[in-house]
Amino acid sequence: MRTRRIPVAAPVFVGNEKQYVNDCLETTWISSAGKYIQSFEQKFAEFCNTKHAIAVMNGTVALHLSLIALGIGAGDEVIIPSLTYVATANCVAYVGATPVFVDSEPQTWNIDPEKIEQAITARTKAIIAVHLYGHPADMRAIMKIAERHNLYVIEDAAEAHGASVEGRSVGSIGHIAAFSFFGNKIITTGEGGMIVTNNDQLAQKMRQLKGQGVDPVRRYWFPMIGYNYRMTNIQAALGLAQLEKVDWHLAQRRRIAQTYRQYLKDYDDICLQPELPGYVNSYWMTSLVLGDNLPDRDRVMQQLAEQGIETRPFFYPMHVLPMYANLANGKKFPIADRVSMRGMNLPSFASLTEEDIHYVCACLVKVLGY
Ligand SMILES: Cc1ncc(COP(=O)(O)O)c(C=O)c1O
Repeated sequence: MRTRRIPVAAPVFVGNEKQYVNDCLETTWISSAGKYIQSFEQKFAEFCNTKHAIAVMNGTVALHLSLIALGIGAGDEVIIPSLTYVATANCVAYVGATPVFVDSEPQTWNIDPEKIEQAITARTKAIIAVHLYGHPADMRAIMKIAERHNLYVIEDAAEAHGASVEGRSVGSIGHIAAFSFFGNKIITTGEGGMIVTNNDQLAQKMRQLKGQGVDPVRRYWFPMIGYNYRMTNIQAALGLAQLEKVDWHLAQRRRIAQTYRQYLKDYDDICLQPELPGYVNSYWMTSLVLGDNLPDRDRVMQQLAEQGIETRPFFYPMHVLPMYANLANGKKFPIADRVSMRGMNLPSFASLTEEDIHYVCACLVKVLGY
């Protein structure tokens, strides 16, 4: 029996994190001004190949500001995948608009572009494309639909730093994108987020909104209702150090996913998230869906927990949550329902060893009754 528990996620610091954070303390630049904010923003924009990057408190407010900047509000509809983290839907609700849910496609579990067009109405203003668990959504199809119907596209790239579609980094494809740096993400600032865009006006507006809406030249003049959504210099210091090592972090996630794939390759009913041709998966989490003939997902997770292995169930789809169930409007979401009930994330943090992965796979295969 193992004494060490294997978690799903854990931050890993292999760079200048301590040095940069200590520098903030020593220089007393601990609040939302300071050199690390600018450096982190600049380096993150380079990383995404976008013109602008705006550091904020977390990924949720990054989405919120994106919607405000695009002028989305009461009476508008925003199309989102039902299978996503709750923040995607909540941000639409924050601005008084209505989230319209669309089912997933069965391979990557991302929003199904073929079902998007049926959901478009005269009120639709935007599509939020979520890159779930690290595999990019079908951005080519989504951008085409958006162009045809004159819609904005926001990428919810909270889980997909470093992923790409046909050589284009996620975050640089839609009109605006939001990233999260929560403690379990590919790179972390504890809590934190980033908005990226190539649009100068949107960038300027979001910068103003994140700092209470203050006029950029006239101090204490507030021409709009803004927010305090600023990131601190300490968070940015941590983020910059993490970003300097992002290639290493991404390589570890890929190594982990490939090792799991190797160990589980003979079990056809264990469906790992793929990496479709033309896409680069960030492999934020190694994720799988259990085939219909395999045991109950929650029992499997429980039995793994008893052996010291933490796993995570997939998100509940938005259309089953109490505050959004009435918006389903009798629509069915068979893929999201099945994937949500049969899906789980395996331990995926950057310093997970091959021995750990072997142990997880051996336990999983046994629990599944193979
Ligand atoms: C898909 C998705 N969107 C949005 C968020 C919100 O990010 P945060 O937790 O930083 O607010 C998360 C993350 O946690 C997420 O996974």
